[in-house]
Amino acid sequence: PLVAVIVVAAGSGTRLALGQPKAFVPLQGRPMLTHALQGVAGMRESAQIIVVVPEDRVAQARLIAAQVSAECAADAPARASAPAIEIVVGGSSRQESVQRGLARLHPSVEIVLVHDAARALTPAALADAVVDAVRTTGHGIIPGLAVSDTIKRVAVAVAVADAVPGARLGTVLGTVDRSELAAVQTPQGFPRHVLTAAVAAASPEMTDDAAIVAAAGHPVRVIDGHPLAFKITTRADLNRAEHLLAAAGE
Ligand code: CTP
Ligand code: MG
Repeated sequence: PLVAVIVVAAGSGTRLALGQPKAFVPLQGRPMLTHALQGVAGMRESAQIIVVVPEDRVAQARLIAAQVSAECAADAPARASAPAIEIVVGGSSRQESVQRGLARLHPSVEIVLVHDAARALTPAALADAVVDAVRTTGHGIIPGLAVSDTIKRVAVAVAVADAVPGARLGTVLGTVDRSELAAVQTPQGFPRHVLTAAVAAASPEMTDDAAIVAAAGHPVRVIDGHPLAFKITTRADLNRAEHLLAAAGE
């Protein structure tokens, strides 16, 4: 394959706090990872799909991958073959998980997408658009949406925040010009050589692949994101995803 998608699903889901890794939390009765892989497997181009999961979830992830592959083959019999999905054990940070995925790239791969399993409802068309844009520009591509909230820069008074649990009291430093902002999503796509070189040179605390690529001096462009590519981080996000799926199924 010329395209690979690394789906990072090795996080623990601390903020969701449901006692299991987030990608395995059910959404409409099926693990979030199932939904995420359905999107990726629906891409126009057949890609190498690499799923990065917690060590104790490898067996479960293999079952999920086999199921999604089989369903995809049944839905699109015209396709040459069912998508091949590989499972890899993740690391303690998102970046480490991405690196474990990168280590498994097939030699033929020229374009790499990195996608959060937590963006479980992301449509296949967004991944297709990212691939197209990487191919035509040769640059890193990230999907982004305009920001609708007014954003302030705040000097957070840490001592006060610690004294009052849950409070983040601070001083407003200024309002940020909203027209210059984008809320960025995944999948983020890059020419393979650009991403692998940038990741090798990155500092370990960087969490965003596009930031790593930009820090290495390579251009990164933004294309239109999709409202359904939102990240499920909190219970409220999970509820919203449930409602959207229920509404779509009606
Ligand atoms: N991720 C990963 N490996 C890690 C940490 C995160 O593969 N060590 C993945 C998550 O599975 C998720 C994506 O990176 O799909 C975005 O991370 P986030 O939303 O922060 O998920 P978690 O880290 O699981 O959640 P939390 O931060 O609340 O613990
Ligand atoms: Mg996290």
